[in-house]
Amino acid sequence: MCGIIGYVGKEDATPYLLDGLRRLEYRGYDSSGIAVLDKDGGINLQKCAGRLENLRRQIGDKPESGCCGISHTRWATHGEATDENAHPHFDQSGKLVLVHNGVIENYQKLRDDLEADGHQFLSQTDSEVLGHLIGLAYENQNGVKESNSEERLVAAVREALKKVSGTYGIVVMHVDAPGFLVGARLGSPLIVGLGKDENFLASDVSAVVAHTSDAIYLNDYDLVCLKSDEFKVERIDGGAADFQVSQVEFSAEDVELGDYPHYMLKEIFEQPESIENAFRGRLSDEEASAMLGGLQMSPQELRDVDRIVLVGCGSACHAAMAGEHIIEALSRIPTEVEIASEFRYRNVPLDKHTLVFVISQSGETIDSLGALREAQRKGFRVLSLVNAVGSTIARESDGGTYMHSGPEIGVAATKSFTSQLTLLTLLGLLLGRMRDMSVSDGQEILREIRALPDKVREVLKQNERIKEIALKYVEAPGMLYLGRQFNYSTALEGALKMKEISYIFASGHASAELKHGVIALITEDLPSVFVAPKDSVYEKNMSSMEEVKARKGPVIAITTEGNQELERIADDVIYVPDTIECLNPILSVIPLQLLSYHFAVARDCDVDKPRNLAKSVTVE
Ligand code: G6P
Repeated sequence: MCGIIGYVGKEDATPYLLDGLRRLEYRGYDSSGIAVLDKDGGINLQKCAGRLENLRRQIGDKPESGCCGISHTRWATHGEATDENAHPHFDQSGKLVLVHNGVIENYQKLRDDLEADGHQFLSQTDSEVLGHLIGLAYENQNGVKESNSEERLVAAVREALKKVSGTYGIVVMHVDAPGFLVGARLGSPLIVGLGKDENFLASDVSAVVAHTSDAIYLNDYDLVCLKSDEFKVERIDGGAADFQVSQVEFSAEDVELGDYPHYMLKEIFEQPESIENAFRGRLSDEEASAMLGGLQMSPQELRDVDRIVLVGCGSACHAAMAGEHIIEALSRIPTEVEIASEFRYRNVPLDKHTLVFVISQSGETIDSLGALREAQRKGFRVLSLVNAVGSTIARESDGGTYMHSGPEIGVAATKSFTSQLTLLTLLGLLLGRMRDMSVSDGQEILREIRALPDKVREVLKQNERIKEIALKYVEAPGMLYLGRQFNYSTALEGALKMKEISYIFASGHASAELKHGVIALITEDLPSVFVAPKDSVYEKNMSSMEEVKARKGPVIAITTEGNQELERIADDVIYVPDTIECLNPILSVIPLQLLSYHFAVARDCDVDKPRNLAKSVTVE
């Protein structure tokens, strides 16, 4: 949450920073700000509440000029989304500015002490306290030559960071050290973008990919000093840092909208390719199995696994729930799902043959990262299923597999979810083929996986029809989602999509649970969406549907192509191509994504930036 970008180079910093903020808006968008060191050596700071557009308007015809600056887009934690609470924040002297992503947990005590010493704060944020702390340490620097402002600033950052507990990704700039930025991270992401005569610090590579594809993914406790033609990475305690320059694997074009009105729609329509990217090069016809070399486990080690724990948040957790069914069905290995935020504070019994798998699109979700570290602390091998290459979870896990979905920018997860399901199926196949799964069953799964992209294209062709259905129900006060077995998690995911972007209450349930309470909600106004493919529980699903209809509840059904029977019961039917049971969720979730998308557009909601949410949740 919160996006930060700093620029130091030979050009005017403002356009770079504003463009970078646009790319980072998915991380938070309730206020934004920018500070540029102007040519006269002063700090020109502009910030305001609301979307980035407000900041652009404020800067308007008086753009700051200067070649070094920092900026921020905020997702409020401490203090409301006001102009004052927007970053950057000054220190007491007014000579230092800071942007911060994370939470300073002991900020109140620090603030009280600083106030007792005469410091005056202009905001309610924890971040401003850190700015004051660094500024104070800078003023009090002894032992570093007065004239060497850069060294003094670095020493001040090191000293101040010793006093804080919590998480941070920060960038700091001081008028005494023009053309010089200091960044540091602990628990919040920060990357260095290395350009020609210009360098960047940002929360994520998407902010800099238009200018460079050379990036350093900083580790926790790294500190970086940046000039236009020079960089130095060290540990915050002064030790040597272990870093490397990586190539960003996507281009600036990949993060553009193209002809689509919203990223969410673009990403829904990218699913034939993103699913193919997830399985490309990973299917072995010879072995009728999957090849997941990134797991870095020998066949013997994989054979020894007798329990799997899948961990994630939000949609990744729903993918994990589908994964539980898939892995158990294909490999018979007992699999459980843990919500990452619960796992990290619970003493989950694990034994030496338990494999922990963390699932995360961004690879930065703090609770998922916390779960990974907790399991590793206990000595367990933790694998990851991540989209963002070079992200913290990907780097800290003991192995894993990348989703290769390309950047997902819409806050509501879409293509990452279907890629996660694809890869969990490959995992189930691999483990299954090491146990009792026959060659012919393995071959059938491979065939069906390969057929997925075309089948997804078939589903996408129904976009207009799904839009019509959405418009028909757009005044609904809420929505129920029902599914069973493999599609219970599809129902949960469909409800989550609806809630997060349309702001109407929606809940997902196992169909048969309807009669244990949810049915009390059924009225003529409340639509129920049934995920009811022609599978082993189809008849049971159909009975639940009848129960809703008997109480006059409208029903939208997702079922298998060719199954006309539901036209008789449901008010609206959406068809998906036939596939094997465990792969059906990949097809069935797509109409649900489209339904929520069209609902949100019709209700005039901000589809890509829903209120109160952020794509990458890097605070607890
Ligand atoms: C946020 C996003 C969700 C996402 C969840 C987990 O809540 O809004 O769309 O599913 O985080 O994110 P991750 O990056 O770990 O998959």
